[in-house]
Amino acid sequence: MIPTDGKQPGTTGGSESDRRSRTADLIDRDASVLWHPFTQQSVWLADEPIVVDHAEGMYFTDTDGNRYLDGVSSLWVNVHGHRRPEINAAIVEQLGRLDHTTFLGLTHEPGIVLAERLLASAPAGLDRVFYAGDGASAVEAALKIAYQAHAQNGQIRPFYAHVAEGYHGDTLGAVSVGGIDLFHQTYRSVMLRTHQVSSPGVLADPRQSRTQRAGEVLTELRALFLEHHETISALVIEPMVQAAGGMLTHDESFVRGARALCDEFGIYLIADEVATGIGRTGRMWACEHAGITPDLLTCGKGITAGYLPLSAVLATEDLYRAFLGTPASARTFFHGHSYTANPLAAAAAIANLDLMAAEGSVARAHEVGELMGRLLEPLADYDGVREVRRIGTMTGIEVESVGDRTGFAVCQAARSRGVWVRPLGDVVVLMPPLAIADDEVELLTGTVSDAIRTVVQ
Ligand SMILES: Cc1ncc(COP(=O)(O)O)c(C=O)c1O
Repeated sequence: MIPTDGKQPGTTGGSESDRRSRTADLIDRDASVLWHPFTQQSVWLADEPIVVDHAEGMYFTDTDGNRYLDGVSSLWVNVHGHRRPEINAAIVEQLGRLDHTTFLGLTHEPGIVLAERLLASAPAGLDRVFYAGDGASAVEAALKIAYQAHAQNGQIRPFYAHVAEGYHGDTLGAVSVGGIDLFHQTYRSVMLRTHQVSSPGVLADPRQSRTQRAGEVLTELRALFLEHHETISALVIEPMVQAAGGMLTHDESFVRGARALCDEFGIYLIADEVATGIGRTGRMWACEHAGITPDLLTCGKGITAGYLPLSAVLATEDLYRAFLGTPASARTFFHGHSYTANPLAAAAAIANLDLMAAEGSVARAHEVGELMGRLLEPLADYDGVREVRRIGTMTGIEVESVGDRTGFAVCQAARSRGVWVRPLGDVVVLMPPLAIADDEVELLTGTVSDAIRTVVQ
């Protein structure tokens, strides 16, 4: 039985049969005009898509009136729950003043204030903000900044270093530094030139400690840098956890060691915090776990609390200065987007950061993570579960495969019990909003545990 939210969905109304026919009509129309992301369209209808009608707090409700707990923060973006009055009000207020102007040749207060606010919390030494539109476009900008900065210092370095099982988005530059074969292999022949090192989150042997594994990968990285450092612009990492790779957590010594090697060999370190930033790991930035400052830090997803697309690249002053020169010197960063620093998105982001400060959301993310860890402990001994990996609210439960799409089957079973989660292959991901309440965490972990025990027997 799926819990309902006890009220008629605003736009549906009418009898149950009216609602069902509206749902069927929307699904029909969707199937005739749309192409969904990361979706095999041939099974889209068979998988019975949910048509979302409205959302509030930790829940969204479909056009039939069924309510679901949003257990993955609408793909890792939501921070305070849906439709928080404070964020709604900030967007409406901004709308009353300025919808959008370009950021090329113009500036505006929300763009300025947000940059100040991001830098105030960022690892010391990051002093500049370059806005982009989503996570992948922030990564693209960071890759180009690193390359161009070296070029402007007289060094052409056409290669990037990156990590197996990494994920940085779906544009070609971001795909080039990705390491998930299922997503990235197809495009190898049209990619940037890269060197890949092993993942510090995939143990070479189950008895190995994560610290040993980190040391092994750092040795590999040192060998790579020794041989090729003069042609490598940047190393791209996801600090502390490779999220889309399956919530592959690694030891903080890997992040520290990567920083040290980049310093030793004069290679820029790009920390991609699109997934881990804005409190997700129980710290504002995952780099804080290792006490390092990258040369470039990308962030997106939770920056607007899940409301509007916006991302940013945070850069050191040194990198910024590499781009200074006369207009004729071609040292300009010729890169930007139509909606760079969109004021509505910036207003949502500022309201998000205000709420996070007022409510102690980062500390809450840590507490939520600890609670999830305790509640999921019994699963660690369950035969159907290979491993539970987690940091802050980011959790991956790797289940034994019992068929073609075991992870998906678990998620469907959770869905029929009123909890919405998404798999990464056979890793069931739980990543609730930072502001989730204890009883909702219990609902999430309890329902997913039941779903796993039902599907993986
Ligand atoms: C670490 C990381 N970088 C970049 C991206 C891409 O972000 P977007 O989907 O906003 O382009 C993601 C998305 O999951 C991510 O996890």
